[in-house]
Amino acid sequence: MLIQENVPLAPFTTLGVGGPARYFARARGVSDILDALEFSDLRHVPIFVLGGGSNLVIADRGFPGLVIKIEIRGVTSQADGEFCVFEAGSGEDWDTFVAHTVDQNCAGLECLSGIPGTVGGTPVQNVGAYGQDVSQTIRSVVAIEIRTGEIRVFSNPECGFAYRSSIFNDGSRDRYILTSVSYRLHTGGAPSISYRDLQLHFAGRDNPTLVDTRNAVREIRLSKAMLIVPGDDDARSAGSFFKNPVVDCKAAEFIAHIADQRGLPLPTYAAADGMVKLPAAWLVEQSGFGKGFCAGAVGISRRHSLAIVNRGGATAEEIIALKNRIQQAVFDQFGIELKPEPVFVGFER
Ligand code: EPU
Repeated sequence: MLIQENVPLAPFTTLGVGGPARYFARARGVSDILDALEFSDLRHVPIFVLGGGSNLVIADRGFPGLVIKIEIRGVTSQADGEFCVFEAGSGEDWDTFVAHTVDQNCAGLECLSGIPGTVGGTPVQNVGAYGQDVSQTIRSVVAIEIRTGEIRVFSNPECGFAYRSSIFNDGSRDRYILTSVSYRLHTGGAPSISYRDLQLHFAGRDNPTLVDTRNAVREIRLSKAMLIVPGDDDARSAGSFFKNPVVDCKAAEFIAHIADQRGLPLPTYAAADGMVKLPAAWLVEQSGFGKGFCAGAVGISRRHSLAIVNRGGATAEEIIALKNRIQQAVFDQFGIELKPEPVFVGFER
């Protein structure tokens, strides 16, 4: 396996900031990963596992260890009664894989169309959009344990899925490298069109198909600059920069009261245990960071206030400075601590 040195990482990310990797390797299979782990052991350097780079902020000084770019490919499928189980290599492009499942007339991932990144990233943060998240369809995840090099298979409950989280970005963070993911999809199933944006899109239209739903989701994402389109500088982002905060009823009522006073509707969503999920985009916008906000080379997308964008030539430092300003302003206005959604790499001292 080829190990390169001082490889710029910004081009591997959708945000396009950050410095180089000290070492860089592409892993096309399990044996490449094992070789890479041996190399990092011998050199006593940390590793970072790179997928599609769509949810990353890389520090300007880069990463001082070995970046392993996962390029494990391959998709197989097997009928299971009225379901079909698709197993995809973790390096497969996510949206191409979703298109394949929709082409095969299998329901369960259609609302997750147009999301940048790779298959392996989806269980890690339990990727979700437009009423679906992957925890609803993942059957199992195969991973290599970094410490021992052993292969482990995780069933869906063992992944510990919650909103934008799993054991892989929480309790067992940095313990495993995912090599493949299996999804159990409903053959001939109806598309899920529960999310408000989709209901509005299909208003007055009967029985949209899976293909219609995939196209609609891509269209809606495009309108919010959440679809990567070359030349669209509102899409040079890491997607949603903050998670939607989950608060108790009292806090939600307090914010709904402010929203009423301002005459601005605040949509809320029920979360587990009687808690309420609030739209972070609304809080950001109402704290002075509206769509199109600019601060030098960084800013807020003109089409969605939850995306911090690189307007060209931005540094990670500028991104972090804007993130901090937004968090402080939202806290000052509403008493809510917004948690960032992307993974931050190379910032540890
Ligand atoms: N809103 C604003 N200003 C905006 C955009 C939205 O105030 O510029 C408010 C509106 O009230 C809107 C509400 O926020 O009704 C929700 O907006 P949206 O439907 O766009 O969804 P979101 O909560 O901002 C979440 C996910 C997205 C996912 C969409 C659609 C998180 C952190 N983000 O965004 O995921 O695509 O729902 O399901 O949960 C991502 O994680 O990177 C991502 C793009």
